[in-house]
Amino acid sequence: MKNKSTGSVFSGGDGSMLKIDSLSQQFEAVKALIDVDLEVSSGEVLGLIGPNGSGKTTLLNVISGVYAPSQGEIFFQSRKINGLKTYQIIRLGIARTFQNLRIYGRMTVFGNIWGAQHSLSNRGIRRQFLMSRNRGKDREEINHLLDLVGLYDRREWLAKQLPLPDQRRLELARALIRDPKLLLLDEPAGGMTPKETEAMASLVQEIAISGRTCIIIEHKMDMITALCNRLCVLNFGSKIAEGTPNEVLKNPLVLEAYLGSEERAHA
Ligand SMILES: Nc1ncnc2c1ncn2[C@@H]1O[C@H](COP(=O)(O)OP(=O)(O)OP(=O)(O)O)[C@@H](O)[C@H]1O
Ligand SMILES: [Mg+2]
Repeated sequence: MKNKSTGSVFSGGDGSMLKIDSLSQQFEAVKALIDVDLEVSSGEVLGLIGPNGSGKTTLLNVISGVYAPSQGEIFFQSRKINGLKTYQIIRLGIARTFQNLRIYGRMTVFGNIWGAQHSLSNRGIRRQFLMSRNRGKDREEINHLLDLVGLYDRREWLAKQLPLPDQRRLELARALIRDPKLLLLDEPAGGMTPKETEAMASLVQEIAISGRTCIIIEHKMDMITALCNRLCVLNFGSKIAEGTPNEVLKNPLVLEAYLGSEERAHA
């Protein structure tokens, strides 16, 4: 897999992979993020947790350029990225998966990854496709990745024919094909049974996070504590705790946030 150099202009190095300063995101009356500070070091795997609606996906959306933040700054390898377009951010080396899958159901499994591999090319997509049919290296990379995620035998299936856990694997592969420096996973085991979750956690451990900086959103605490060395907790858009899984999951503010959200759900 390749790691495209972007030749980015750095504003000086502080050693961190990602640094977020006083980030806020407002959607009309909804304050989805309020004054969030966060730093992720190179090689770190950070778990982003919090009750439903606490702002986790919004934070990934702002980092990946889906929204320009209402306030605050984001630095990726010391370069300011807020305000850049999604494709510019992908080119710098940030890839993500989506809570609501973004695969192309009517394309083949192979084609989905091929599309992710070539989507930022300046050449016409059709021309690219015809050329890449003959280009062994790209196909080799895709086939290797398909093998790693367990989809090689079904590479000619339409993506919509795959069961949900395999669609999530495909989405993971789409993010990994660019060998990102920073990988953002939004509920990679969303909608999965405990057994499927376990398999996904092993896959993420083996092929996605080793040697890479990651932020993982997940409600399943067993998975998050197994994969992450640090957790950050959001509640109503604010960061309420940060630390090792052990520290954070004992924190009274965190327990109260989850208890409160359960009470609201049952009210
Ligand atoms: N595009 C948008 N327009 C308006 N409100 C939004 C938008 N995106 C998110 N919100 C609101 O921002 C808040 C945070 O939503 P977000 O999706 O980030 O939560 P979350 O922590 O990812 O929740 P979940 O665990 O359920 O996925 C919610 O109140 C949500 O309704
Ligand atoms: Mg979410």
